[in-house]
Amino acid sequence: MRVPRRPLALALAVVTALGVFTTPAAGAATKKGVSVNNHPGVATALVDVRAGWYYTWASDTQGVTTPAGVEFVPMIWGAGAVDDAQLARARSLGTTLLAFNEPDLAGQAAMSVEQALSLWPRLQATGMRLGAPAVAFGGDRASGWLDRFMSGAAARGYRVDFIPLHWYGSDFSTAATGHLQSYVQAVYNRYHKPIWLTEYGLIDFTGSQPRYPDQAQQSDFVRRSTAMLNGLSYVERFAWFSLSTRTTPTGLYDGATPNATGVAYRSVP
Ligand code: BGC
Repeated sequence: MRVPRRPLALALAVVTALGVFTTPAAGAATKKGVSVNNHPGVATALVDVRAGWYYTWASDTQGVTTPAGVEFVPMIWGAGAVDDAQLARARSLGTTLLAFNEPDLAGQAAMSVEQALSLWPRLQATGMRLGAPAVAFGGDRASGWLDRFMSGAAARGYRVDFIPLHWYGSDFSTAATGHLQSYVQAVYNRYHKPIWLTEYGLIDFTGSQPRYPDQAQQSDFVRRSTAMLNGLSYVERFAWFSLSTRTTPTGLYDGATPNATGVAYRSVP
């Protein structure tokens, strides 16, 4: 349906065309974020990378100083973090809450769906915008961990505002961006909730040791994947894994200095 143009709409269209307004991403100036462990240099790196938001896998900033104009997003990492002090701290430091980290993995939050559901009212009671637990795998699978959690939450009338996802690609070719897009799209098609990609990168976990791409492959993937993610309206946020090479070989900064991948990520709008 064509709507006649009114002066305000015209003015807004002009302002938008000039780039004064970019795609709003639920409060942050940009969808682009980073995960941060407090290693030497991260204070400088976090300013330099031009992220709209960051998180630390914790309910507080872990001693990281939040730069002006950057949003901190707290997390309740696992069952042990569901206590009044951490919930209150999260509420005082942010408006959106990330929930359990990889509950489907033994080495991570390692929770049953029932356990997560039984704790959910405590997270909901913060009144914060609330992300589902971030599964490591199979967010698109019927009867997978996330699917059982989402059905259980719906049956109990619980609130889940968006879906955080993790994704690691083992194919380092230019096909990787399409593989990521298929996954994100499949999860969106199943739940029709906004997606936050809170950990992603290229790491091949299929062998006995993780295999990593070189800087050329990795920075090329940063450029292609972020253009794709910025173009998907239902993707509200994404965060490369991770800010520092002390956290992971896929990191963007060696101390305070960006590597080729960091330079690529820094230039993402
Ligand atoms: C863990 C976090 C950790 C991060 C970086 C995540 O998978 O859950 O606790 O800080 O990796 O090592």
